[in-house]
Amino acid sequence: MNILKLLNTGSEELRVKNIFSHRIDSEILLSNVLNKKREELLINLDEKVSINKTKKFQKIIFRRSLKEPVAYILKKKEFWSKNFIVNKNVLIPRPETELMVEKIVNIFEEKDIFILDIGTGTGCILLSILSELKCAKGLGVDISSRAIEIAKKNLQKLKLPNKIKFDVKSLNEIYGYKFDLIVSNPPYIMSKDIKNLEEDIKKFEPKLALDGGNDGLDVIKKVIYKSKSILKIKGMLALEIGNEQFKNVSKILSKNNYRIKYLIKDFNENIRCVLSILEK
Ligand SMILES: C[S@@+](CC[C@H](N)C(=O)[O-])C[C@H]1O[C@@H](n2cnc3c(N)ncnc32)[C@H](O)[C@@H]1O
Repeated sequence: MNILKLLNTGSEELRVKNIFSHRIDSEILLSNVLNKKREELLINLDEKVSINKTKKFQKIIFRRSLKEPVAYILKKKEFWSKNFIVNKNVLIPRPETELMVEKIVNIFEEKDIFILDIGTGTGCILLSILSELKCAKGLGVDISSRAIEIAKKNLQKLKLPNKIKFDVKSLNEIYGYKFDLIVSNPPYIMSKDIKNLEEDIKKFEPKLALDGGNDGLDVIKKVIYKSKSILKIKGMLALEIGNEQFKNVSKILSKNNYRIKYLIKDFNENIRCVLSILEK
């Protein structure tokens, strides 16, 4: 079969399974099998593909047709212009999280700060910030040992000059440090809403990374309380939150002596990140 035929059959197989991104997914998966850029595929549509590669492509199209995310199939996801290793034990980094990274990089520029990332997953937030703030150092923790394995692999891959450590720890177990900045994208979906998520997410992404308890605020609250004892006075807490959580989160923050300094809206105009200062 040639490239065009494979792209079309792959795309059609995904389309009939109601995968909205069927065409682009087919292109991305084939470009990965053939180790060519997508643009290269599109200018070589007549090129013949070997039987082995055709079978490989058909296999991964089948996986995608069962709603497995492309990032898990390819074991990588681009975030902050870097390829992060991912697998089913970590949340796939999301573009809206880059908005928080961008703001933090702008605020702290060349500063020599100590950063904690709670619920680090792939390590994407901490590693991206540290790739920009060369004088800063950081600690990333996650309750999932399998997530920390992936964060450590990403650290090795990115070869950053900073002092960086990843530890398997629940946020309750962080003692003996004082940070200038704490960042966290905690699980924030209400338990009852998990069943309504897209199949790609609810069937494949780790529940531990999604489930924020009855009101979606369980881990967010813990991060806010814990940060009071491990953040320097005037230190910053940067939190990613879910849709419609801002009202409650802002109340919890002000009750706990934080002053909201910046809000970041996502691509749908929802308040997605709250950056606040610990006043006392
Ligand atoms: C939404 S994911 C965020 C992953 C990554 N930071 C990102 O933005 O892509 C939340 C992460 O928090 C971790 N987590 C959940 N509860 C935790 C706890 N009590 N202490 C530490 N980490 C926790 C999960 O294992 C998961 O990796």
